[in-house]
Amino acid sequence: MTISTTRAHMKIDVLLGLQWGDEGKGKIVDVLTPNYDIIARFQGGPNAGHTIEFEGKKFILHTIPSGVFNKHTINIIGNGVIIDPHIIHKEFRNLSSHGIHTENNLLISRKAHLILPTHRMLDAASESAKGKSKIGSTLKGIGPAYTDKIGRNGLRIGDIESEGFMQKYGHIKAKHIQLMGLYDFDYKRNKIEDLSFEEYEKAWFAGIDAIKEYTFIDSEYYINGALDSGKRILAEGAQGTMLDIDFGSYPFVTSSNTITSGVCSGLGVSPNKIGEVFGVFKAYCTRVGGGPFPSELQDDDGKRLRDEGREYGSTTGRPRRCGWLDLVALKYAIMLNGVSKLFMMKTDVLNSFETLKIGTGYHYQEKQIDYIPFEYNETSLVPVYTALEGWHQDICGIRTKDQIPEILADYVKFIENETAVPIGIISVGPDRSQTILR
Ligand code: GDP
Ligand code: IMO
Ligand code: MG
Repeated sequence: MTISTTRAHMKIDVLLGLQWGDEGKGKIVDVLTPNYDIIARFQGGPNAGHTIEFEGKKFILHTIPSGVFNKHTINIIGNGVIIDPHIIHKEFRNLSSHGIHTENNLLISRKAHLILPTHRMLDAASESAKGKSKIGSTLKGIGPAYTDKIGRNGLRIGDIESEGFMQKYGHIKAKHIQLMGLYDFDYKRNKIEDLSFEEYEKAWFAGIDAIKEYTFIDSEYYINGALDSGKRILAEGAQGTMLDIDFGSYPFVTSSNTITSGVCSGLGVSPNKIGEVFGVFKAYCTRVGGGPFPSELQDDDGKRLRDEGREYGSTTGRPRRCGWLDLVALKYAIMLNGVSKLFMMKTDVLNSFETLKIGTGYHYQEKQIDYIPFEYNETSLVPVYTALEGWHQDICGIRTKDQIPEILADYVKFIENETAVPIGIISVGPDRSQTILR
């Protein structure tokens, strides 16, 4: 039986991180943008730092989708994202100082929630109360803002246009100040980004005014309508699968669903409209902040990865923890996301290694396992490694797949065989042009 319909059956493609964030999502979204009409962020907030480099310029985006450097592309901040008006205002100003004007190609969901100045203070209060077991949050107010969303106390972009906005703001702020009292945290004596609370609040309201210049949309209708009219859409993830609120190394996670299911709730598309799922991973692993990281290297190899990969956080500047590629975690991420293509990033960072290791299992409770157990912490899991020969040559100038050295091709084949997913892109440097399509 065939069912005919006049509507185009476009699906939304998804690009997301498979590790602990910072896989290079921003670079690859920018590379793929010419193939899409719309790029849409679906979760996270300014805890993200997505780096894009081209023509000798470097940009780090926190809230704005990475499609913004192509003037023919529409960018959407979806309902699942949380926005700090001060931070997005700084992004607007930085882009416009480089001649990139976003007023006409950036649309914001009315249902996206706002991060309030007191959310940032609460994040700091909560982290300092945790002491040694702190999450290592980016202190952007992510946890408290998502807490208010789920607790049904949040303020949304659409509220900015309502008459009661200031009253609602004051009400929530007063509640937060009470909460900070419970933490014994004096918000008046703490600073955010070198600003006193009052100064930050002032900058925050200037950000609200800046946001008002943009078009607010009911993004679920906009996106489904765009799919129906044949538009090509790419959903851009933030953070990574191992930081997912449900499936990451809880409680050392972020406060949103970073996986493909987050696209459905964060943009309002149904599961049967998900198309390709592009999973981005580094040829090794990094993690910033606290929490388990079984393949972490505390030795010279770890230091070498950090130096060669310039592994310092795009949002906070903190040194990233580094280690070998962990295939157990990668396969877990592929399963959770339904990854159809893998993109391998920062391959060039391994250029100088004579031997490379890949984690293919864990020793756990006197057994060897190949899954992520509930008790996922550094002390309970010892990785089992397979050693592979390094290509030991500079690959940064390679642009086509026929130039790939055989030893690197073997490294790629090993990962493809283990994961049963093809590697569609090999990235060999931070610049847009340093990308090999296979
Ligand atoms: P994202 O959060 O996933 O977008 O990643 P980040 O931008 O936080 O971190 C990735 C870092 O690696 C950035 O500094 C990028 O410029 C850089 N980068 C991306 N791809 C490559 C690559 O293939 N090789 C090297 N050496 N650097 C890369
Ligand atoms: P992108 O999109 C790497 C980490 C923090 C911390 C934990 C919780 O650039 O890949 P949060 O501020 O969300 O409460 O912090 O998650 N984290 C990230 N690590 N890349 C990110 O984003 C991250 N966003 C949050 O370091 O360990
Ligand atoms: Mg990042």
